[in-house]
Amino acid sequence: MPATRTYASRPKTAQRTDASQARKKPAQAKAGGAAKPKPAVLTQLHLAFDNCPLKACKTCGLTYTRGVPEDEALHKTHCARVQRGLDWGRDEEKTGVQLVDAAANPSPGIHGRIISLRADAGGKAGAKLATVFDLMNTVLAAPPLSQTALKATKVYLFLVKPKNASREHIAGCVLAQRISTSLAVLPTSDTNNAGAKLVHGLYCAPEPLPTPLGIPRVFVPTTYRRKGIARALIDAAARSAIHGCPLDPRTGQLAFSQPTDSGRRLMDSCGVQRVYEEDDDLQ
Ligand SMILES: CC(C)(COP(=O)(O)OP(=O)(O)OC[C@H]1O[C@@H](n2cnc3c(N)ncnc32)[C@H](O)[C@@H]1OP(=O)(O)O)[C@@H](O)C(=O)NCCC(=O)NCCS
Ligand SMILES: [Zn+2]
Repeated sequence: MPATRTYASRPKTAQRTDASQARKKPAQAKAGGAAKPKPAVLTQLHLAFDNCPLKACKTCGLTYTRGVPEDEALHKTHCARVQRGLDWGRDEEKTGVQLVDAAANPSPGIHGRIISLRADAGGKAGAKLATVFDLMNTVLAAPPLSQTALKATKVYLFLVKPKNASREHIAGCVLAQRISTSLAVLPTSDTNNAGAKLVHGLYCAPEPLPTPLGIPRVFVPTTYRRKGIARALIDAAARSAIHGCPLDPRTGQLAFSQPTDSGRRLMDSCGVQRVYEEDDDLQ
């Protein structure tokens, strides 16, 4: 999962007041040659940052162009979704949705339910998932999953119902896909190991190991973070992604693709010590 920032629109060329234009030529020496040359006139270059139309939002990480209505509107929508997530209506849940945990309670004050559905679902659910995937890809600066990948992927949603709200909120989303192999992340002490391979900034043992489940995307809106929601979703995926075959992340049965810094912490907390390449290791 790549972690670089993304842009709402291509940045325009930043404005710059080039007060100096160019250095002035020193005054020419008088004929006869005795006069001292005048010292060069020093000029200062002022970069007018106040005029720079690009703004990087500290809340959602998006960089957008100030004063461009489409960009401002796009940012407003994205920022609200990053903070509070999207709504989920019962009408989006008509078919193909499995209730994985009816009463999830990962931390005090957080009560919700976990559902799962196919990532290539159609209808209203499919339309909502497309928006959720778009949000996750923008946050992670990740490319969209291919149709082939979506076919091999299940979506896990953590749904909460805030007081007085008529619809539930998606307070977390995890994608889980069938994969074939992954690499074991080496402990820090082993990074000098001659055969170690650097994958997504992590030193790994070079031999691919059979692995049934990969986690290509995880996202929790900022309002709901550090309440155990992502961990609850990973556990739910490990338990139920492969029918009749609960998996144990601590024994190498789960891998993350391209973890971010917080994703790496989450991996540690869930006992996941494997990484994989989304395109190469898909089953
Ligand atoms: C990474 C992310 C999904 C974590 O979601 P979350 O619901 O806040 O995670 P949890 O509350 O389940 O965290 C479980 C444990 O993981 C670790 N952890 C998670 N996020 C962490 C962070 N930002 N810093 C340090 N530790 C973190 C902690 O050990 C935490 O347990 P604790 O809160 O009891 O200390 C969320 O921060 C997010 O959506 N980030 C933006 C997208 C992203 O980076 N996704 C990861 C892609 S691999
Ligand atoms: Zn923002």
